[in-house]
Amino acid sequence: MLRLGRLVGIALAAWIALAPRPGLAGQPTVRVFKSATCECCAKWVEHLRSHGFAVQVTEVPDVDRVKREHKIPDRLASCHTATVGSYFVEGHVPAEDVKRLLKEHPRIAGLAVPGMPIGSPGMEGPNPEPYDVLAVDAKGGTRVFASHRP
Ligand code: CU
Ligand code: CU
Repeated sequence: MLRLGRLVGIALAAWIALAPRPGLAGQPTVRVFKSATCECCAKWVEHLRSHGFAVQVTEVPDVDRVKREHKIPDRLASCHTATVGSYFVEGHVPAEDVKRLLKEHPRIAGLAVPGMPIGSPGMEGPNPEPYDVLAVDAKGGTRVFASHRP
């Protein structure tokens, strides 16, 4: 009996280790465009990967050009720009909000966290500040998608 219990335990541990992480199977790759020297961008990439996302990084000399290509208004700009599926993801958007975006699939152009608020993923610091993740429509209009309070 004891041996059987142990075998079941081992099988269960193996299954947990090998099973795909729930919710992430089949999710599109996040493509990140950043400057080669941006450290907070690299930390945001790590944040996404640690939450199960496949991330492809492209280092570009002119990130603003990528922002213009995706019609991201200047007032919403941050450091890096990413795309996932048909959406853009501008700045330090938390992985949980990207997951919600892909799950709910709203009719918007993308999400943005303008600037680089302290306390957002990749911008950790001693004095975190509140910030909003904005849903951005094709005309550049915004509404609050998620509010994050420290
Ligand atoms: Cu940044
Ligand atoms: Cu960045």
